Amino acid sequence: MQQIVHIAPLRQAIATHKRAGHRIVFVPTMGNLHAGHVRLVEEARLHGNIVVCSIFVNPLQFGPTEDLDAYPRTPEADLAVCEREGVDVLFAPDVEEMYPGGLVDAVMVDPGPLGTVLEGAARPTHFRGVLTIVAKLFAIVRPDLAVFGEKDFQQLALIRRMVRDLALDVRVEGHPIVRETDGLAMSSRNTYLSVEQHEQALALSQALAAAVEQGPVGRDAALKAAHEVLDTAPGVELDYLVVTDPLLGEVDDDFHGQARALVAARVGTTRLLDNTAVLLREGR
Ligand code: PAF
Repeated sequence: MQQIVHIAPLRQAIATHKRAGHRIVFVPTMGNLHAGHVRLVEEARLHGNIVVCSIFVNPLQFGPTEDLDAYPRTPEADLAVCEREGVDVLFAPDVEEMYPGGLVDAVMVDPGPLGTVLEGAARPTHFRGVLTIVAKLFAIVRPDLAVFGEKDFQQLALIRRMVRDLALDVRVEGHPIVRETDGLAMSSRNTYLSVEQHEQALALSQALAAAVEQGPVGRDAALKAAHEVLDTAPGVELDYLVVTDPLLGEVDDDFHGQARALVAARVGTTRLLDNTAVLLREGR
């Protein structure tokens, strides 16, 4: 595995692979790699012959009151995971390398209205930071395809929109959420949860499962089933629970077809997300 921390040698490595006709697949991460990331790497391997993984805790996507310093950093374990999983190139730059002019004056990607709802309402500068770093990583790695997890469903939707709206030459592949055996969606933030909070956090996936288990019902009935779980769940402070169309557009109770149920809640001080596909029929 090639380990690279600077942009120039990474560009050279990529150019060499491209000249050799290799298909480059990219898995961007913030490290603290878990089984969910491993599945992204496995998925990447199916789509090309050179897998590039990046590890960069991007300060631009953390708000002023968020957990940038506390974000779990496990470089040695991450390196071992990448080697074990057969990653070909690991790009792990530092902040100075990615933002040489500093963060304040940086040119950034505006996510538009979709970046202001749901997660964007709670974290106003978050998606600007995500899209800026993803665009920059795309420009450096020049992948044929990039793989992202569906757990951050709004992030994935916005990255697809950015690729379309800025005509970026990369295919974006979403990978289904990877769950613990008890149903909790895997996330680096799960490491913040105590054993008790982990138990409490199961209410998120259970609420979504309750909505799906109704069978095709209307939006309101699906939401009601999920609320019945969440509203009585100890230790869970709900931020939002919504059912949208697959592109995160609002739907009413008459909507039918494939939809998405998304939930965000705080357990202790940890903000958790989950989502699922849900089939709706007209309500009422
Ligand atoms: O999902 C993540 O880990 C991050 O938001 C990403 C896409 C690597 C950008 O920093």
